[in-house]
Amino acid sequence: MDIKQLQAFVAIAELQSFSAAAQKIGLSQPSLSRLLKQLEADMGVLLVERQHRPLQLTEAGAFFYKKVGTLLIEMQTITSMTQRLASPSPELRIGFVPSVLYGLLPEVIATLKQQHTDIEVRLCDISSYQQMQALKSGEIDVGFGRFFYQDAWTQQILLRHERYVVALPKAHPAAQIPHQRLSDLSQQHLILYHKTHLPARQIVGTPAMDTPSAEPFEPPITEPLLHIFAQHGVTPLMTTKVSDLQVALGLVAAGEGVTLVPASLQTVRTEQIAYQPLWHEDVTSPIYLHTLKDRPHPRVPDLLVAVYKVYEQRGITYRRQSFVY
Ligand code: BEZ
Repeated sequence: MDIKQLQAFVAIAELQSFSAAAQKIGLSQPSLSRLLKQLEADMGVLLVERQHRPLQLTEAGAFFYKKVGTLLIEMQTITSMTQRLASPSPELRIGFVPSVLYGLLPEVIATLKQQHTDIEVRLCDISSYQQMQALKSGEIDVGFGRFFYQDAWTQQILLRHERYVVALPKAHPAAQIPHQRLSDLSQQHLILYHKTHLPARQIVGTPAMDTPSAEPFEPPITEPLLHIFAQHGVTPLMTTKVSDLQVALGLVAAGEGVTLVPASLQTVRTEQIAYQPLWHEDVTSPIYLHTLKDRPHPRVPDLLVAVYKVYEQRGITYRRQSFVY
């Protein structure tokens, strides 16, 4: 069994066609069929039902595809990481979710550049979840996100917990009332904007595991704001889901409803939106630094030092953490 046979089988399984699979991996159709036949002969197992159109996997083939697909992704990750290790990129590519851009990210980058005048930085707007794949493929070297993920390749450093505030239209009767409770908001039209939902296993306290050996299992997902309300025993009466934070704040500004945002957002659209602190101290949004577990980019520790410097300058409470190598 060799890697070319496995790649041929995965392409056939995904595209359900010999000609499309042959085109995808740049082989002639007879060569591709030969690779599949050799693989089946080596294993002594029929993997693909040839008589169906589109092609179908046998039960054994479907099982093998699930396992081998993960293995090939791992191979690609290892190859790309090894290439980067041999010739690290001179620039530090930083992924971020939009909410940290409104907060301290610009100050962190300015501090990093002040401390290391030789450093080159590229910023990339990318959701917390996609940051995991982007780290493995080499698209980014480090990411700032709001959700915890754990797999065999990445590590997460919790930077701090940021309190949520309620965003209300300026003309709303409750716009000037500080320290509102989530129960006070239950009758309001709540605007939801998160792209990433929380896996249920994360909610019950176990970090989401996505190890190569884990059984394929799709946990149910939960919208983060609804999760916060549910934790306090509150079910909002009416909700609307929008594509992102900016749209959510646009709807609040237009008087269409209220939402919760991390406190660093409270400088946005202040002519139309009032931001009020919540009564609950535990309603917070974490900020994580995600990077690779083995040999992160050599400038990532400098970036963490810059984050802590900004926290110290601003009197922000944090717990210093270090990387696992
Ligand atoms: C923060 O708000 O704590 C933060 C934002 C971006 C990068 C690092 C930290």
